Amino acid sequence: MSIELKDVHKAFGEKRVLRGFTLSVERGETVSVIGGSGQGKSTLLKHVNGLLKPDAGEVWVDGQRIDQLEGEPLYETRRKVGYVFQFAALFDSMTIAENVAMGLRRIPGLSEADIADRVRTALARVDLEGVDEQYPSELSGGMRKRAGLARAIALEPAYLLYDEPTTGLDPVTLSMVDELILRMSDRLGVTSVVITHDMESAYRISDRIVMLHEGRARVAGTPDEIRDSADPVVRAFVEGRADLLEEAS
Ligand SMILES: Nc1ncnc2c1ncn2[C@@H]1O[C@H](COP(=O)(O)OP(=O)(O)OP(=O)(O)O)[C@@H](O)[C@H]1O
Ligand SMILES: [Mg+2]
Repeated sequence: MSIELKDVHKAFGEKRVLRGFTLSVERGETVSVIGGSGQGKSTLLKHVNGLLKPDAGEVWVDGQRIDQLEGEPLYETRRKVGYVFQFAALFDSMTIAENVAMGLRRIPGLSEADIADRVRTALARVDLEGVDEQYPSELSGGMRKRAGLARAIALEPAYLLYDEPTTGLDPVTLSMVDELILRMSDRLGVTSVVITHDMESAYRISDRIVMLHEGRARVAGTPDEIRDSADPVVRAFVEGRADLLEEAS
């Protein structure tokens, strides 16, 4: 098992967000997490790279309990885990090339030429050539999103966590990002967790889909199983039908 969350609980003050969330992701697998806004999807993902610590439960990554790591051992494990933030999270005062190079500079033994090479390759992979010297504010939202993606893949991580990588992208760019996620998985064997609201994209890229609902994994199944799910909460989300939710409650 390469990523495993066991009975994870997390509250912010009075707000109980994760309430016994359990999920196992096998090596090389791509698992998508779906669920309504505010259900805790980003919170969940931040536990996987140790940005957040659970109140209770365990988070395993690459054979380590990342929730118990601190300092250098935490950074060492985190380096294997690429994170594509929901809102790009680029540094406005740095150029796109500098943003993408940022994580690479922390890898010992990489020369400036190696770094430049990896930045170029990563930007090309997301179809963002020629913007190296521009600043994030000069790019469109979709381009910034792809720059965030380039920064994560430049590190060539064994694990990739994507927080809504396709939200707000035009259909062509969206299918390009889907292709990229598939390629990272098929060619490089990357293990991925993808948060998405886009069911077509989830069906296309996922080995399994999990729904986060009221702090727990509501269902976990293959795209076909999710498509055919009889669970009204799943169907309400998948089919975009609020009326089914009322039926369920
Ligand atoms: N650092 C924090 N401090 C306080 N509350 C937080 C914090 N992070 C998240 N929350 C709260 O936890 C809940 C879940 O937030 P989260 O961002 O994980 O939801 P989400 O499922 O990713 O939503 P969206 O689909 O809108 O991105 C929300 O009510 C949010 O306000
Ligand atoms: Mg979110």
